[in-house]
Amino acid sequence: MIDAIERVVRQLEEDRSLLEPDRLRERLEALDRLDAYLAFRPDVPDVPQSVLGVESKDAELYLRAKAVCARLEAANGELYEAIRGDIRLGRGHDALLRWVQSPPERDAGGGAANSVDADVGYDYLDELVSGVLQFEEPDAGEVAREPEMVFYQPTPARHIFDLIGGDLIGGAGLTAEDVVVDLGSGLGHVPLLVSICTGANSVGIELEAAYVERARQCAQRLNVNKATFLCGDARVADLSRGTVFYLYTPFVGAILRDVLERLRREAATRRIRVCTYGPCTSVVAEEPWLEAAAVPEMDRIVLFRSRD
Ligand SMILES: C[S@@+](CC[C@H](N)C(=O)[O-])C[C@H]1O[C@@H](n2cnc3c(N)ncnc32)[C@H](O)[C@@H]1O
Repeated sequence: MIDAIERVVRQLEEDRSLLEPDRLRERLEALDRLDAYLAFRPDVPDVPQSVLGVESKDAELYLRAKAVCARLEAANGELYEAIRGDIRLGRGHDALLRWVQSPPERDAGGGAANSVDADVGYDYLDELVSGVLQFEEPDAGEVAREPEMVFYQPTPARHIFDLIGGDLIGGAGLTAEDVVVDLGSGLGHVPLLVSICTGANSVGIELEAAYVERARQCAQRLNVNKATFLCGDARVADLSRGTVFYLYTPFVGAILRDVLERLRREAATRRIRVCTYGPCTSVVAEEPWLEAAAVPEMDRIVLFRSRD
């Protein structure tokens, strides 16, 4: 293991081209490998050998690996800052979607080859989005959660880009005229990315005030004024502006049924689309007033259209 890491560290020390902005994916892969090594070395103190008076090849390698990590992270930081600048100038669509053009190869288990969390399907796009949106850690939740309410977990970014880019089976075809409502929006990834990349208005409805506060902060810092965030319960929030409703299984059971009934009533006044991700898809697929655009696939966002 040490020899392999030594080789990687030497290669990264010598290959300065890895610091070029376009090589984000390779940098993230290298950081994954180095982080795994550094995590196994908690015993090596984070101070120079000269201070410790230690003569250890291990300690030297550890410090070299840390230095390489710092350089790679600084290069990522510059890239994220440049994209943030583009978003503020209304050029977020090109700045973000260029990273999505070549989908990551899937491994045998269905996760991305360089997945940071293969179980849920997170990959380099999630690193990119979190580096760009830079959410501050929310304060501890204050809401007394009912058992049917699901805890916060963001939709993997590549699925959000599917929704935005029209790669969704059946094509959600978002336009600037749409109002996309994320029911249970958490920190606001979906509304923010939708408005940044499509110019559509978006609304995040979230029960947890601390998440809403962080989402608003992010929108303000990036000048994304088409994304708004409301603190409230999806069972009573105003849904009248929505043309597209998104649910990443925010709740189950009776709450999900109540909210679907509210959506059915909205659909009686105009055609709407409902996009789902996660276990709620199979429940939504049973709604007779909705028609799936294609056979639902459980590991992607599924598009439903209201029937006439
Ligand atoms: C699985 S997360 C999805 C987050 C976000 N939609 C995304 O895809 O990144 C579910 C979110 O729904 C919120 N939530 C649960 N019950 C809710 C309710 N009745 N009304 C509004 N939000 C709710 C939770 O606090 C949590 O942030």
